[in-house]
Amino acid sequence: MRIAIIKEQKEFEKRVALTPDICKQLISSGFQCSIETNAGMNSFFSDEAYTAAGAEVVSDKTALLSNADIVVKVNPLTSEEVKMMKKGAVTISLMYAASNPALIEACVSQGISAFSADAIPRISRAQKMDVLSSQANLAGYKSVIVGAYHLGKIFPMLMTAAGTIKPAKVVIMGAGVAGLQAIATAKRLGAIVEVSDIRPETKEQVESLGGKFIEVKGDESIKIEGGYVKGVSDEFLKKQQEVVSKHISEADLVITTALIPGKKAPMLIPEDLVKKMKMGAVIVDMAVEQGGNCACSEYGKTVVKHGVIIVGEPNIPSLLPLNASELYAKNIQTFLIHLANKEGFKWEMEEEITKGSLIVHNGVNLFNK
Ligand code: NAI
Repeated sequence: MRIAIIKEQKEFEKRVALTPDICKQLISSGFQCSIETNAGMNSFFSDEAYTAAGAEVVSDKTALLSNADIVVKVNPLTSEEVKMMKKGAVTISLMYAASNPALIEACVSQGISAFSADAIPRISRAQKMDVLSSQANLAGYKSVIVGAYHLGKIFPMLMTAAGTIKPAKVVIMGAGVAGLQAIATAKRLGAIVEVSDIRPETKEQVESLGGKFIEVKGDESIKIEGGYVKGVSDEFLKKQQEVVSKHISEADLVITTALIPGKKAPMLIPEDLVKKMKMGAVIVDMAVEQGGNCACSEYGKTVVKHGVIIVGEPNIPSLLPLNASELYAKNIQTFLIHLANKEGFKWEMEEEITKGSLIVHNGVNLFNK
């Protein structure tokens, strides 16, 4: 079973799907690893490190893909990359199948199989494979560091001979994996942290990290399934905005992480609210890739609007490419060992993890079936 790792092409992407350490472990489990020249460079893993781990470094991408039994990547493969794969081969990536019908079509035409790492069910025994959590966790940390970098003040209270500096006030919208890590990081830096989420169970989680929960009375429009918010009415969002706007207008840093899977991110900070914020306040909009939680954020840019610095960085895990690649690689290794051994894939079609994440099987589209 030959695994190929190819260089990521997407803008703002610095991660690599497998690290030298994980290649070494997979090789000792009986797999072979080949990697495209310079694929790990942006995450600080040299070709020499892969060679030392026992992987083969290949400059000819067509040969690399056409000889592989398994192709692993962080971002979805392009249709051109799929066309270079051999029939019956398997790919694993963050496919986001719902928003990628053309890729599903390409996999079907090529007669390959495709697993989507973002669709691995979030059940206890799959925690070691949960790429969404591993990447969101790092992103939550880095969002605070990015915010702190742009903020013209420090986080902790400081009593000096020249006067006392008040602690910074950080508001975090959304207490999922990224939001909880952002709370912990901002607290460690000495800020006062206030948090809003619409899943009731987050109150206790926020408080256990030392954050203050901003209470907004829920209503029947909030639909929660399997731990995810599946829908919320505009009326609720309006009510939430009324309660939260006071906290946001007094904040030094606002980090927004609110997402509704498969839908556009909820609008939590309209332009009118940005106008009410303090001069020099910072917003880090982690939902910018899904349309943004702030009306003024711009994809891939840091802009200043109404005196507020708004960061629209679309791929925050990639700002920590070393750790993000290490954790992604470990998730993928665990996933792969679950699915296959050196002889081949097990194809346990009724097993929950396989069933949840297998999008195309030998050219047959299984998505939503
Ligand atoms: P996510 O990235 O889909 O959303 C981020 C957060 O935004 C969520 O907490 C959501 O409630 C919140 N949100 C949505 N609309 C909002 C609004 N209008 N205002 C404020 N907040 C809003 O969530 P993530 O981080 O992927 O976690 C989702 C779920 O998955 C959670 O229930 C979590 O406990 C669960 N999970 C389970 C794991 C397991 O292994 N069992 C592992 C990781 C997460």
